[in-house]
Amino acid sequence: MFDREKIIVGLEVGTTKVCVVVGEVLEDGNVMIIGTGQAPSAGVRKGEIVDVELAVEKIREAIAAAEENAGVEIHNVYASVTGGHIRCFNNRGSVPVTNEDREITEEEVQNVMLNAKAVNIPMENVVIHAIRQHFFVDGHDGIQNPVGMIGARLEADVHVIHGVRTRLQNTIRVIKEVPLDVQNIAVSGFATALAVLTTEQQQLGALVLDIGGGTTDYVVYRGGTIQHSGVLAVGGDHITNDIAIGLRIPMNRAEQLKIEHGSLDVPAVDEIITFKREVGLPDLRLSKQQLCQIMRLRVEETLTLVKRELEKHNLFEYLGAGVFITGGCARLRGLAALAEEVYGLPVTLGHTKTVGGPTAALESPEFATAIGLVRYALCTQRDQHQRPGWSGRLGQFISRLRNLL
Ligand SMILES: Nc1ncnc2c1ncn2[C@@H]1O[C@H](COP(=O)(O)OP(=O)(O)OP(=O)(O)O)[C@@H](O)[C@H]1O
Ligand SMILES: [Mg+2]
Repeated sequence: MFDREKIIVGLEVGTTKVCVVVGEVLEDGNVMIIGTGQAPSAGVRKGEIVDVELAVEKIREAIAAAEENAGVEIHNVYASVTGGHIRCFNNRGSVPVTNEDREITEEEVQNVMLNAKAVNIPMENVVIHAIRQHFFVDGHDGIQNPVGMIGARLEADVHVIHGVRTRLQNTIRVIKEVPLDVQNIAVSGFATALAVLTTEQQQLGALVLDIGGGTTDYVVYRGGTIQHSGVLAVGGDHITNDIAIGLRIPMNRAEQLKIEHGSLDVPAVDEIITFKREVGLPDLRLSKQQLCQIMRLRVEETLTLVKRELEKHNLFEYLGAGVFITGGCARLRGLAALAEEVYGLPVTLGHTKTVGGPTAALESPEFATAIGLVRYALCTQRDQHQRPGWSGRLGQFISRLRNLL
């Protein structure tokens, strides 16, 4: 029998599939994946809910599968959120240290974090994460934990991720309808990076790309912390759509063609692909060169859009560990070679190496986000236990955020 306190569940309601990962917190504080569940998604477009009833049904299906697989009952989840409305920026907060002895305490840290996230975002938006990058004490850079240090001024750099409240609420509402309690939310790209990158890779610097069905989520780590992140509302569905239009075939056929015959490596000599159709209709004969060309154009464009973002922020020189790609599209034939060509960096196709569990799940690029949610939960729970001030103002901020959702 499992101790309910020790079970953590990650839930991704994706455009293509709903994915549930059940983790158990071990005695040593690490987490082990003990079960997974999946269902094809419905009622989700570009990572956002468009039909509540359909989505609820699919979440129930995936949760039931995970409950059976893990042998536990699921009541609470950590959920991922994504969508083209999600934005980020880096900000610096600053507070004077007013204690007589000028010793920095947890209270100053909380105050400077609140100050750093007190920024102007559009009225309809809400801050999802304010991730600490590093602190400065009297102008000295690169401080990881200032508690106990002496100084007159404490500053903090944070990476703020925010999104449109109502669009985030839709994902939460759907999960509550199941019914499940949403313990917390995390942006998909951030969760994915937690699953994929080791601490060393975060230090070396890396780009993590999650190319799913409806979105491409990216996160850049530099010197151990998140430096940049974003979401493009473009994913594998767009490749399928391009194939359907370019070859004048229905979407379901185009999806099948993409998976069975597609590649980003355009063959030098053309081949004809013969496709069986319904009884009475002649077989379809299609050019493999044309199929691969269509796919390559779309994927190259998507990779280049992310590249431009990184160039705009001068981040290329900091990606010492290279590029990591997850999401179902990581299975596209020829992706690693194409991404290496676009970025000029080594590319690793996303395997999760940061937790233990069944190899099938850890090696599936589609599972990375939900696995990352389990890691995110573990980190936030550790933080709660280790920080006596958590129930203070920062804790209130988090619970206010949860209530809003
Ligand atoms: N073998 C394969 N070859 C090519 N593409 C594949 C393969 N397997 C899955 N895909 C594509 O991966 C995409 C689904 O990826 P994933 O399951 O990560 O999406 P998702 O998490 O549901 O969506 P999102 O995160 O964008 O909301 C689909 O477009 C699908 O066609
Ligand atoms: Mg996804």
